[in-house]
Amino acid sequence: MIEAEGLTKRYGKLVAVDHVSFSVQPGEIVGLLGPNGAGKTTTMRMLTGFMPPSEGTARVVGHDIIEDSMAARRAIGYMPERIPIYPDMTVRGYIAFWARLRGIRRPAGHVEAVLKRVDLYDRRDTLIRQLSKGMRQRLGLAQALVHEPEVVILDEPTIGIDPQQVIEVRESVRELGRKHAVLFSTHILTEAEQVCDRVLIINKGHIVAEGDPGELRQQLEPGTQLYVVIGGASADQAAALLSAIPGVISVEVQGEGFNVSTQAGTDIRGAVFAQVSAAGYSLLEIRAVASTLEDIFLNLVSRDSQAEGV
Ligand SMILES: Nc1ncnc2c1ncn2[C@@H]1O[C@H](COP(=O)(O)OP(=O)(O)OP(=O)(O)O)[C@@H](O)[C@H]1O
Ligand SMILES: [Mg+2]
Repeated sequence: MIEAEGLTKRYGKLVAVDHVSFSVQPGEIVGLLGPNGAGKTTTMRMLTGFMPPSEGTARVVGHDIIEDSMAARRAIGYMPERIPIYPDMTVRGYIAFWARLRGIRRPAGHVEAVLKRVDLYDRRDTLIRQLSKGMRQRLGLAQALVHEPEVVILDEPTIGIDPQQVIEVRESVRELGRKHAVLFSTHILTEAEQVCDRVLIINKGHIVAEGDPGELRQQLEPGTQLYVVIGGASADQAAALLSAIPGVISVEVQGEGFNVSTQAGTDIRGAVFAQVSAAGYSLLEIRAVASTLEDIFLNLVSRDSQAEGV
């Protein structure tokens, strides 16, 4: 549904998006995850025809965004980072206005359907100025969906709204995945994990990793961490014993026990138990410490920065 090939955007010397290639399949929700300034909005603006790429191109439902930009735009619903708001319009009036811009001659039926879909039908006669931020986000979603596009592109739809409304917007995005191909951006890792089928991690205009959130964790996890508490040994004795186990990379004191990092793919639990028993100590606790997508992200982003000598 979306196929980007070498999308690049330069602002003078700055390369905001640097040869980015990816695809979004029908029924798939893909997250563009990256920190501020990573190039998320710029990528989306190129896809939606708001500005031309400096290099590369993309196809949306088979339509080239440069050669066939009108058809490509028709296939997309876009919710921008900052939604243009007309405070004195009613909810219904605003969506009808967008529907007409999108070439729908008799918008009433479309407007009703889309407002029901985003749960704003009860507010159809409310002035936009009287909506909460979360409701405005849903209004932005309705605007993006009114012409029933095959592809939906949402730029950080949960920014600046309260936690309850964040949950609602995330649910709405998940719901969209049933009917549309969805590309949505976020800088929140847990959000990408909750909402997306696949995540593209972008930093400084480069895609630095890609995969389903679970796969990403497996691929990129630097290793496994265990938390171990040993009884009957001094801290030095316990640390020496753990450090000597093959596959252990580091041992750090943490509370009454140790955080033990091991090489990826090694399972030292059996060895820990055996060594502790053999030395006459007792194993009081042993458990895995899961590294979060947050750790992976920091790791990747710092690796990317180091590679560039920053
Ligand atoms: N119109 C512009 N002119 C010059 N530089 C720009 C312009 N728009 C964006 N940039 C720069 O391009 C880079 C990417 O910006 P972009 O807005 O795409 O990032 P983003 O990932 O959307 O960030 P955020 O999470 O803050 O929204 C940044 O360094 C930004 O300063
Ligand atoms: Mg942005």
